[in-house]
Amino acid sequence: MPEDLNDDGLKHRFSMSPEESARILSEHEDAARRFRTAMSPEDRERLPYYRHLVDALSVSDTALDLLLSVRREQQNPMLLLAALHYTALLGNPTLGPLYANAASGTGTPPQDFATAVVSFLEQSPDVIQRQLHRSTQTNEVGRSGIVIAVLRELRRRGVEKINLVDVGMSAGLNLYPDHYRVVQKDDGSVDALICEDLTAFNVEGPLPLIEQRIGIDPSPLDVAVDDDALWLRACLWPEDTRRTRRLQALIPEVRNWERILRLRGTALEMIDEAIVEAGNGAPTLVFHSWVAAYFSLEEQQAWRARMLKITRSKPVYWFYLEWPQAIPGLQPPPASTTSPQLGGSQIVLTSPGGEPQPWGWCHAHGHWLSFEPVSDKATPLALSLGIEDATD
Ligand SMILES: C[S@@+](CC[C@H](N)C(=O)[O-])C[C@H]1O[C@@H](n2cnc3c(N)ncnc32)[C@H](O)[C@@H]1O
Repeated sequence: MPEDLNDDGLKHRFSMSPEESARILSEHEDAARRFRTAMSPEDRERLPYYRHLVDALSVSDTALDLLLSVRREQQNPMLLLAALHYTALLGNPTLGPLYANAASGTGTPPQDFATAVVSFLEQSPDVIQRQLHRSTQTNEVGRSGIVIAVLRELRRRGVEKINLVDVGMSAGLNLYPDHYRVVQKDDGSVDALICEDLTAFNVEGPLPLIEQRIGIDPSPLDVAVDDDALWLRACLWPEDTRRTRRLQALIPEVRNWERILRLRGTALEMIDEAIVEAGNGAPTLVFHSWVAAYFSLEEQQAWRARMLKITRSKPVYWFYLEWPQAIPGLQPPPASTTSPQLGGSQIVLTSPGGEPQPWGWCHAHGHWLSFEPVSDKATPLALSLGIEDATD
């Protein structure tokens, strides 16, 4: 008899109808698979503490039940990892020292770390459950390297002023592309964004002047609020110390930068208001990065239709970087090249009056860029707006 028949949850399952039992087993198998595949092969290699942790969580019925208890669109292993990390950062006497070990790579070895964390979770699931109303909100400022490349190209095409609307903004760190320095290789400075340009495309040059910064999110974060800043940090992985140091260095600076207009709600609920707020005559760039995967298929389809309607009638550009497999409803256009590395995010830009165009690939966190902007055909809308982009 398998050892896990002693497990209460499993015994309960065997007292259910065969159909109910099969349904729960298949949900658990799916949740376990999500833990096992939560990290890319390169991250598994790089981050042994989290690798052991996701593997240990994938065989814990408590972890699987917790994940399945979350509202469907947030049933992402990253939420559980962030909730555990957040509890550690709050100073939990068991998790605090374990996570400090993981961050420094000293003390408890990775496998023992994972066993101890899962044992805590199994003894005190309610402590973690309390944080599961939150959302996965990793705000990856490295993606600004890609926003900067797109903005430089728009400037080269004659766009001198622009409004930015970041859909799924998290804390809005990607609304400050004009504040960041991008380097091709790590120069050791904590705040530079490393974005290697694999296509040697000339991305140097000025950006358009940014007029307005608007963010949309169902639960927008504000780095000026200490608890929001802590949750942002918890969404990072403790072993990824460079990202943590960069975030910690950024937070006090961002508190003094230009104000963001935060619109609370979903993309579909708030986009019209955002466009009205940006209505100062300058074109607007609506963008989203690693957000549309959180939409249902129907929301993705509705979002595409809404954005095409907007770009066909207003001076609005729409750009996204998303993992194409996760956004079938956006119908990303076929790329002219394959991603130069596994798991690339596709860059797609729609100009006013134009069709969605594949503009290349990038690393999910913006570490590299393979940029191939395509010229749109001239459209009456773009020409009447004096936007050169469409005439190249
Ligand atoms: C993984 S984070 C990415 C944050 C940011 N775009 C970045 O690249 O750093 C996903 C964000 O999308 C937001 N989100 C989820 N569903 C959304 C929706 N329907 N409309 C707008 N934002 C949404 C979440 O609250 C979260 O802040």
